[in-house]
Amino acid sequence: MAGKSSNKNLDQLLTTLSLIIDYQGGEQLYHAWRVAIVAKCICDEISPAESPWLFYAGLLHDIGITGMNDHPARHPELTMSHLSHRLKYHPVIGAGIVGEIPGLNRVAPWIRDHHEWIDGNGFPAHKREQDIHVNSQILRMADDYDLRFRARAGLTRSDLYEFFRSRVGTEFSPAMWDALRRLNSGDMGLFFFEVNDESRLPYKLREILHDLPAIDRTMSGEAFIDVILRVFGIVIDARHRYTAGHSERVRQYAAILSKRLGIKGHELKDIARAAYLHDLGKIATPLSILDKAGPLNESEWRMMKKHTIYTMELIDAVEALWPLGPLAGYSQERYDGKGYPDGLRGSKIPLGARIIAVADAMDAIKTKRSYKEALSWKVVIGELQKSAGNRYDPEIIDHAIAYITQEKMFFDHKSIS
Ligand SMILES: [Fe+2]
Ligand SMILES: [Fe+2]
Ligand SMILES: [Fe+2]
Repeated sequence: MAGKSSNKNLDQLLTTLSLIIDYQGGEQLYHAWRVAIVAKCICDEISPAESPWLFYAGLLHDIGITGMNDHPARHPELTMSHLSHRLKYHPVIGAGIVGEIPGLNRVAPWIRDHHEWIDGNGFPAHKREQDIHVNSQILRMADDYDLRFRARAGLTRSDLYEFFRSRVGTEFSPAMWDALRRLNSGDMGLFFFEVNDESRLPYKLREILHDLPAIDRTMSGEAFIDVILRVFGIVIDARHRYTAGHSERVRQYAAILSKRLGIKGHELKDIARAAYLHDLGKIATPLSILDKAGPLNESEWRMMKKHTIYTMELIDAVEALWPLGPLAGYSQERYDGKGYPDGLRGSKIPLGARIIAVADAMDAIKTKRSYKEALSWKVVIGELQKSAGNRYDPEIIDHAIAYITQEKMFFDHKSIS
Protein backbone atom coordinates (compact mmCIF):
# COMPACT_ATOMS: atom_id res chain seq x y z
CA MET A 1 0.00 0.00 0.00
CA ALA A 2 1.35 3.40 -0.89
CA GLY A 3 0.39 6.91 -1.89
CA LYS A 4 -3.25 7.84 -1.57
CA SER A 5 -4.20 4.80 0.49
CA SER A 6 -1.47 5.54 3.06
CA ASN A 7 -2.82 9.03 3.04
CA LYS A 8 -6.33 7.81 3.71
CA ASN A 9 -5.17 5.89 6.76
CA LEU A 10 -3.08 8.84 7.93
CA ASP A 11 -6.06 11.16 7.48
CA GLN A 12 -8.28 8.79 9.43
CA LEU A 13 -5.67 8.49 12.17
CA LEU A 14 -5.14 12.23 12.49
CA THR A 15 -8.80 13.22 12.39
CA THR A 16 -9.54 10.56 15.01
CA LEU A 17 -6.63 11.64 17.17
CA SER A 18 -7.75 15.25 17.02
CA LEU A 19 -11.25 14.25 18.13
CA ILE A 20 -9.70 12.37 21.06
CA ILE A 21 -7.71 15.46 22.04
CA ASP A 22 -10.83 17.63 21.84
CA TYR A 23 -13.13 15.30 23.78
CA GLN A 24 -13.31 17.06 27.12
CA GLY A 25 -15.74 16.60 29.98
CA GLY A 26 -18.30 14.76 27.86
CA GLU A 27 -18.23 17.42 25.14
CA GLN A 28 -16.68 17.46 21.66
CA LEU A 29 -14.98 20.83 21.15
CA TYR A 30 -13.92 20.42 17.48
CA HIS A 31 -11.14 22.91 18.20
CA ALA A 32 -8.46 21.04 16.22
CA TRP A 33 -10.69 20.59 13.16
CA ARG A 34 -11.47 24.31 13.02
CA VAL A 35 -7.85 25.33 13.57
CA ALA A 36 -6.74 22.91 10.83
CA ILE A 37 -9.25 24.24 8.30
CA VAL A 38 -8.54 27.91 9.04
CA ALA A 39 -4.75 27.38 9.11
CA LYS A 40 -4.86 25.64 5.74
CA CYS A 41 -6.89 28.43 4.20
CA ILE A 42 -4.62 31.19 5.55
CA CYS A 43 -1.65 29.22 4.25
CA ASP A 44 -3.31 28.93 0.80
CA GLU A 45 -3.00 32.74 0.68
CA ILE A 46 0.65 32.84 1.77
CA SER A 47 2.39 29.68 0.54
CA PRO A 48 -0.03 27.16 -1.05
CA ALA A 49 2.57 24.39 -1.35
CA GLU A 50 2.80 24.22 2.44
CA SER A 51 -0.92 24.22 3.15
CA PRO A 52 -1.50 20.43 3.39
CA TRP A 53 1.19 20.35 6.07
CA LEU A 54 -0.40 23.24 7.90
CA PHE A 55 -3.65 21.30 7.85
CA TYR A 56 -2.01 18.32 9.57
CA ALA A 57 -0.21 20.64 12.00
CA GLY A 58 -3.57 22.24 12.85
CA LEU A 59 -5.13 18.84 13.59
CA LEU A 60 -2.34 18.00 16.03
CA HIS A 61 -1.28 21.41 17.35
CA ASP A 62 -2.69 20.78 20.85
CA ILE A 63 -1.79 17.08 21.12
CA GLY A 64 0.51 18.06 24.01
CA ILE A 65 -2.53 18.60 26.25
CA THR A 66 -3.42 14.89 26.11
CA GLY A 67 -3.87 13.68 29.67
CA MET A 68 -4.77 17.08 31.05
CA ASN A 69 -8.14 17.66 32.66
CA ASP A 70 -8.32 21.02 30.96
CA HIS A 71 -8.28 22.28 27.37
CA PRO A 72 -6.74 25.56 26.16
CA ALA A 73 -9.94 26.18 24.17
CA ARG A 74 -11.64 26.82 27.49
CA HIS A 75 -9.23 29.71 28.16
CA PRO A 76 -9.40 32.20 25.28
CA GLU A 77 -7.43 34.75 27.32
CA LEU A 78 -4.47 32.46 27.98
CA THR A 79 -1.80 34.56 29.67
CA MET A 80 1.44 33.61 31.35
CA SER A 81 0.13 34.44 34.82
CA HIS A 82 -2.50 31.71 35.00
CA LEU A 83 -0.81 29.00 32.98
CA SER A 84 -0.12 25.73 34.70
CA HIS A 85 3.32 24.26 34.02
CA ARG A 86 1.81 21.57 31.81
CA LEU A 87 -0.29 24.05 29.85
CA LYS A 88 2.73 26.30 29.35
CA TYR A 89 4.75 23.45 27.86
CA HIS A 90 2.01 21.75 25.83
CA PRO A 91 3.53 23.09 22.57
CA VAL A 92 6.88 21.45 23.41
CA ILE A 93 5.26 18.18 24.53
CA GLY A 94 3.13 18.21 21.36
CA ALA A 95 6.15 18.83 19.13
CA GLY A 96 7.85 15.84 20.80
CA ILE A 97 4.90 13.55 20.05
CA VAL A 98 4.45 14.72 16.45
CA GLY A 99 8.21 14.45 15.87
CA GLU A 100 7.78 10.69 16.49
CA ILE A 101 5.35 10.26 13.59
CA PRO A 102 7.32 9.41 10.43
CA GLY A 103 6.41 11.72 7.58
CA LEU A 104 5.12 14.39 9.92
CA ASN A 105 8.27 15.43 11.77
CA ARG A 106 8.61 18.56 9.63
CA VAL A 107 5.52 20.09 11.30
CA ALA A 108 6.86 19.52 14.83
CA PRO A 109 8.83 22.83 15.03
CA TRP A 110 5.75 24.79 13.91
CA ILE A 111 3.71 23.16 16.68
CA ARG A 112 6.45 23.91 19.23
CA ASP A 113 6.09 27.66 18.52
CA HIS A 114 2.32 27.93 18.07
CA HIS A 115 1.90 30.12 21.18
CA GLU A 116 4.85 32.43 20.55
CA TRP A 117 4.07 36.11 19.85
CA ILE A 118 6.19 38.32 17.60
CA ASP A 119 6.70 40.82 20.46
CA GLY A 120 8.23 38.13 22.70
CA ASN A 121 5.24 37.87 25.06
CA GLY A 122 4.18 34.40 23.98
CA PHE A 123 5.24 31.07 25.47
CA PRO A 124 7.11 28.90 26.22
CA ALA A 125 10.37 30.32 24.77
CA HIS A 126 9.44 34.04 24.35
CA LYS A 127 10.68 34.01 20.79
CA ARG A 128 10.41 37.15 18.66
CA GLU A 129 9.70 38.22 15.09
CA GLN A 130 11.61 36.23 12.49
CA ASP A 131 12.62 33.60 15.06
CA ILE A 132 9.04 32.40 14.84
CA HIS A 133 8.36 30.42 11.66
CA VAL A 134 5.63 31.90 9.52
CA ASN A 135 3.72 28.60 9.78
CA SER A 136 3.72 28.85 13.59
CA GLN A 137 2.25 32.31 13.23
CA ILE A 138 -0.46 30.91 10.95
CA LEU A 139 -1.28 28.30 13.59
CA ARG A 140 -1.33 31.05 16.25
CA MET A 141 -3.79 33.06 14.20
CA ALA A 142 -6.05 30.09 13.37
CA ASP A 143 -5.95 29.03 17.03
CA ASP A 144 -6.96 32.48 18.22
CA TYR A 145 -9.67 32.68 15.61
CA ASP A 146 -11.39 29.61 17.03
CA LEU A 147 -10.88 30.72 20.62
CA ARG A 148 -12.59 34.04 19.91
CA PHE A 149 -15.49 32.48 18.06
CA ARG A 150 -16.02 29.99 20.81
CA ALA A 151 -15.90 32.57 23.57
CA ARG A 152 -18.21 35.10 21.93
CA ALA A 153 -20.79 33.38 19.78
CA GLY A 154 -22.55 36.60 18.72
CA LEU A 155 -19.39 38.13 17.30
CA THR A 156 -19.64 39.99 13.98
CA ARG A 157 -17.10 40.03 11.19
CA SER A 158 -16.08 43.61 11.98
CA ASP A 159 -15.53 42.63 15.65
CA LEU A 160 -13.15 39.95 14.43
CA TYR A 161 -11.39 42.31 12.06
CA GLU A 162 -10.96 44.77 14.87
CA PHE A 163 -9.68 42.13 17.25
CA PHE A 164 -6.99 40.88 14.88
CA ARG A 165 -6.02 44.34 13.63
CA SER A 166 -5.43 45.38 17.23
CA ARG A 167 -3.00 42.49 17.69
CA VAL A 168 -0.82 43.19 14.67
CA GLY A 169 2.68 43.95 15.89
CA THR A 170 2.19 42.14 19.20
CA GLU A 171 0.79 38.67 18.51
CA PHE A 172 1.00 38.59 14.69
CA SER A 173 3.07 40.16 11.94
CA PRO A 174 1.55 42.59 9.41
CA ALA A 175 1.94 39.89 6.72
CA MET A 176 -0.42 37.62 8.67
CA TRP A 177 -2.98 40.36 8.95
CA ASP A 178 -2.80 40.97 5.18
CA ALA A 179 -3.42 37.28 4.47
CA LEU A 180 -6.38 37.17 6.83
CA ARG A 181 -7.85 40.30 5.27
CA ARG A 182 -7.57 38.86 1.77
CA LEU A 183 -9.16 35.64 2.93
CA ASN A 184 -12.06 37.37 4.61
CA SER A 185 -12.99 39.50 1.61
CA GLY A 186 -14.86 38.69 -1.62
CA ASP A 187 -16.02 35.11 -2.12
CA MET A 188 -14.31 33.96 1.01
CA GLY A 189 -16.27 36.45 3.11
CA LEU A 190 -18.42 33.81 4.76
CA PHE A 191 -15.64 31.30 5.18
CA PHE A 192 -14.99 31.81 8.87
CA PHE A 193 -18.67 31.80 9.72
CA GLU A 194 -19.08 28.51 7.87
CA VAL A 195 -16.25 27.04 9.91
CA ASN A 196 -18.01 28.10 13.06
CA ASP A 197 -21.11 26.10 12.11
CA GLU A 198 -20.64 22.71 13.79
CA SER A 199 -23.13 20.96 11.50
CA ARG A 200 -21.13 21.92 8.38
CA LEU A 201 -17.74 21.17 9.86
CA PRO A 202 -17.50 17.45 8.94
CA TYR A 203 -18.36 18.24 5.28
CA LYS A 204 -15.79 21.02 5.11
CA LEU A 205 -13.20 18.68 6.62
CA ARG A 206 -14.05 15.86 4.20
CA GLU A 207 -13.83 18.27 1.25
CA ILE A 208 -10.32 19.31 2.27
CA LEU A 209 -9.20 15.75 2.97
CA HIS A 210 -10.45 14.65 -0.43
CA ASP A 211 -8.32 17.27 -2.20
CA LEU A 212 -5.14 16.82 -0.15
CA PRO A 213 -2.23 15.40 -2.13
CA ALA A 214 -0.67 12.14 -0.91
CA ILE A 215 2.14 13.08 1.42
CA ASP A 216 3.86 9.75 1.91
CA ARG A 217 4.50 7.43 -0.97
CA THR A 218 6.86 5.09 0.79
CA MET A 219 5.20 3.76 3.93
CA SER A 220 3.74 0.27 3.63
CA GLY A 221 0.47 -0.76 5.26
CA GLU A 222 2.25 -2.79 7.93
CA ALA A 223 4.70 0.00 8.76
CA PHE A 224 1.81 2.40 8.93
CA ILE A 225 -0.06 0.25 11.44
CA ASP A 226 3.02 0.30 13.65
CA VAL A 227 3.08 4.09 13.44
CA ILE A 228 -0.60 4.23 14.41
CA LEU A 229 0.01 1.92 17.36
CA ARG A 230 2.94 3.98 18.57
CA VAL A 231 0.99 7.23 18.35
CA PHE A 232 -2.06 5.80 20.11
CA GLY A 233 0.26 4.26 22.71
CA ILE A 234 1.87 7.63 23.42
CA VAL A 235 -1.56 9.19 23.79
CA ILE A 236 -2.87 6.42 26.06
CA ASP A 237 0.19 6.55 28.31
CA ALA A 238 0.15 10.36 28.46
CA ARG A 239 -3.42 10.19 29.71
CA HIS A 240 -2.79 8.49 32.98
CA ARG A 241 0.22 7.72 35.10
CA TYR A 242 -1.14 4.43 36.46
CA THR A 243 -1.72 3.12 32.98
CA ALA A 244 1.65 4.28 31.64
CA GLY A 245 3.43 1.14 30.44
CA HIS A 246 0.29 -0.97 31.01
CA SER A 247 -0.58 -1.18 27.30
CA GLU A 248 2.89 -2.41 26.41
CA ARG A 249 2.96 -5.02 29.22
CA VAL A 250 -0.51 -6.31 28.26
CA ARG A 251 0.72 -6.55 24.65
CA GLN A 252 3.69 -8.65 25.80
CA TYR A 253 1.61 -10.94 28.05
CA ALA A 254 -1.03 -11.42 25.31
CA ALA A 255 1.69 -12.39 22.80
CA ILE A 256 3.23 -14.88 25.29
CA LEU A 257 -0.13 -16.48 26.10
CA SER A 258 -1.08 -16.65 22.40
CA LYS A 259 2.17 -18.44 21.54
CA ARG A 260 1.61 -20.90 24.39
CA LEU A 261 -1.82 -21.59 22.89
CA GLY A 262 -0.18 -22.33 19.52
CA ILE A 263 -1.35 -19.15 17.79
CA LYS A 264 0.98 -17.87 15.06
CA GLY A 265 1.33 -15.50 12.12
CA HIS A 266 -1.26 -12.84 11.45
CA GLU A 267 -3.58 -13.98 14.22
CA LEU A 268 -0.77 -13.56 16.75
CA LYS A 269 0.08 -10.13 15.38
CA ASP A 270 -3.54 -8.98 15.54
CA ILE A 271 -3.98 -10.17 19.13
CA ALA A 272 -0.79 -8.41 20.26
CA ARG A 273 -1.79 -5.20 18.48
CA ALA A 274 -5.33 -5.32 19.87
CA ALA A 275 -3.89 -5.91 23.35
CA TYR A 276 -1.85 -2.76 22.96
CA LEU A 277 -5.04 -0.81 22.16
CA HIS A 278 -7.39 -2.52 24.63
CA ASP A 279 -7.65 0.59 26.87
CA LEU A 280 -7.77 3.16 24.07
CA GLY A 281 -11.36 4.14 24.90
CA LYS A 282 -10.33 5.14 28.44
CA ILE A 283 -9.07 8.34 26.85
CA ALA A 284 -12.70 9.44 26.99
CA THR A 285 -13.24 8.32 30.62
CA PRO A 286 -13.00 11.20 33.13
CA LEU A 287 -9.84 11.08 35.25
CA SER A 288 -11.99 11.47 38.38
CA ILE A 289 -13.32 7.97 37.65
CA LEU A 290 -10.03 6.39 36.54
CA ASP A 291 -8.29 7.82 39.62
CA LYS A 292 -10.97 7.11 42.21
CA ALA A 293 -9.47 5.43 45.24
CA GLY A 294 -12.67 3.70 46.42
CA PRO A 295 -15.31 1.63 44.60
CA LEU A 296 -17.27 3.33 41.80
CA ASN A 297 -20.93 4.27 42.31
CA GLU A 298 -23.57 3.17 39.81
CA SER A 299 -23.36 6.14 37.43
CA GLU A 300 -19.54 6.16 37.52
CA TRP A 301 -19.55 2.46 36.74
CA ARG A 302 -21.89 3.02 33.80
CA MET A 303 -19.51 5.67 32.49
CA MET A 304 -16.50 3.39 33.04
CA LYS A 305 -18.12 0.57 31.09
CA LYS A 306 -18.52 2.82 28.05
CA HIS A 307 -14.78 2.75 27.44
CA THR A 308 -15.08 -0.56 25.57
CA ILE A 309 -17.53 1.01 23.12
CA TYR A 310 -15.21 3.99 22.63
CA THR A 311 -12.31 1.60 22.04
CA MET A 312 -14.23 -0.12 19.24
CA GLU A 313 -15.37 3.20 17.76
CA LEU A 314 -11.88 4.69 17.73
CA ILE A 315 -10.38 1.56 16.21
CA ASP A 316 -13.16 1.44 13.60
CA ALA A 317 -12.36 5.01 12.55
CA VAL A 318 -9.06 3.83 11.04
CA GLU A 319 -9.70 1.25 8.31
CA ALA A 320 -6.29 -0.39 8.63
CA LEU A 321 -7.16 -1.37 12.21
CA TRP A 322 -10.60 -2.92 11.62
CA PRO A 323 -9.66 -6.56 12.47
CA LEU A 324 -8.56 -5.39 15.94
CA GLY A 325 -11.90 -3.86 17.00
CA PRO A 326 -13.68 -6.96 18.42
CA LEU A 327 -10.48 -8.31 20.00
CA ALA A 328 -9.84 -5.11 21.95
CA GLY A 329 -13.47 -4.11 22.47
CA TYR A 330 -14.59 -7.45 23.92
CA SER A 331 -11.72 -7.81 26.37
CA GLN A 332 -14.03 -6.90 29.27
CA GLU A 333 -16.48 -9.70 28.49
CA ARG A 334 -16.51 -12.50 31.08
CA TYR A 335 -16.35 -16.21 30.37
CA ASP A 336 -19.60 -16.69 32.36
CA GLY A 337 -21.44 -14.06 30.27
CA LYS A 338 -21.59 -11.45 33.03
CA GLY A 339 -19.18 -9.01 31.41
CA TYR A 340 -19.69 -6.01 29.13
CA PRO A 341 -20.47 -4.44 26.67
CA ASP A 342 -22.61 -7.27 25.17
CA GLY A 343 -22.62 -10.01 27.82
CA LEU A 344 -21.03 -12.53 25.43
CA ARG A 345 -20.26 -15.93 26.93
CA GLY A 346 -17.58 -18.64 26.54
CA SER A 347 -16.52 -19.29 22.97
CA LYS A 348 -18.84 -16.53 21.71
CA ILE A 349 -16.15 -14.14 22.96
CA PRO A 350 -13.38 -13.97 20.32
CA LEU A 351 -10.36 -16.02 21.44
CA GLY A 352 -8.10 -12.96 21.13
CA ALA A 353 -10.37 -10.99 23.46
CA ARG A 354 -10.30 -13.85 26.03
CA ILE A 355 -6.50 -13.84 25.89
CA ILE A 356 -6.30 -10.07 26.27
CA ALA A 357 -8.66 -10.27 29.28
CA VAL A 358 -6.22 -12.58 31.09
CA ALA A 359 -3.17 -10.53 30.03
CA ASP A 360 -4.93 -7.40 31.31
CA ALA A 361 -5.73 -9.08 34.64
CA MET A 362 -2.11 -10.24 35.06
CA ASP A 363 -0.82 -6.70 34.84
CA ALA A 364 -3.71 -5.05 36.69
CA ILE A 365 -3.30 -7.35 39.72
CA LYS A 366 0.47 -7.18 39.65
CA THR A 367 1.03 -3.42 39.41
CA LYS A 368 0.36 -0.50 41.73
CA ARG A 369 -2.88 1.39 41.07
CA SER A 370 -4.57 4.37 42.68
CA TYR A 371 -6.55 1.98 44.90
CA LYS A 372 -3.89 -0.63 45.72
CA GLU A 373 -0.17 -1.39 46.05
CA ALA A 374 1.82 -3.69 43.75
CA LEU A 375 1.37 -7.38 44.63
CA SER A 376 3.58 -10.45 44.42
CA TRP A 377 3.32 -12.97 41.56
CA LYS A 378 2.15 -15.54 44.12
CA VAL A 379 -0.87 -13.36 44.86
CA VAL A 380 -1.47 -12.89 41.12
CA ILE A 381 -1.63 -16.67 40.69
CA GLY A 382 -4.10 -16.96 43.58
CA GLU A 383 -6.36 -14.30 42.07
CA LEU A 384 -6.25 -15.85 38.60
CA GLN A 385 -7.10 -19.29 40.05
CA LYS A 386 -10.19 -17.85 41.78
CA SER A 387 -11.41 -16.35 38.50
CA ALA A 388 -10.82 -19.35 36.21
CA GLY A 389 -14.07 -20.51 34.61
CA ASN A 390 -16.14 -17.56 35.83
CA ARG A 391 -14.31 -14.43 34.77
CA TYR A 392 -11.71 -15.97 32.51
CA ASP A 393 -11.29 -18.89 30.12
CA PRO A 394 -9.80 -21.69 32.31
CA GLU A 395 -7.51 -22.98 29.57
CA ILE A 396 -5.91 -19.54 29.17
CA ILE A 397 -5.58 -19.20 32.95
CA ASP A 398 -3.68 -22.53 33.02
CA HIS A 399 -1.19 -21.12 30.51
CA ALA A 400 -0.89 -17.85 32.43
CA ILE A 401 -0.16 -19.70 35.69
CA ALA A 402 2.36 -21.99 33.99
CA TYR A 403 4.12 -18.96 32.50
CA ILE A 404 4.23 -17.06 35.81
CA THR A 405 5.48 -20.13 37.68
CA GLN A 406 8.21 -20.83 35.12
CA GLU A 407 9.30 -17.29 34.28
CA LYS A 408 8.18 -14.85 36.94
CA MET A 409 8.03 -16.39 40.45
CA PHE A 410 11.78 -15.90 40.83
CA PHE A 411 11.22 -12.14 40.91
CA ASP A 412 9.02 -12.39 44.02
CA HIS A 413 12.20 -13.02 46.00
CA LYS A 414 13.92 -9.99 44.50
CA SER A 415 11.23 -7.32 44.54
CA ILE A 416 7.50 -7.13 44.05
CA SER A 417 7.45 -3.94 42.03
FE1 LIG B 1 -2.20 25.38 22.04
FE1 LIG C 1 -5.29 25.35 20.21
FE1 LIG D 1 -6.25 -2.57 30.87
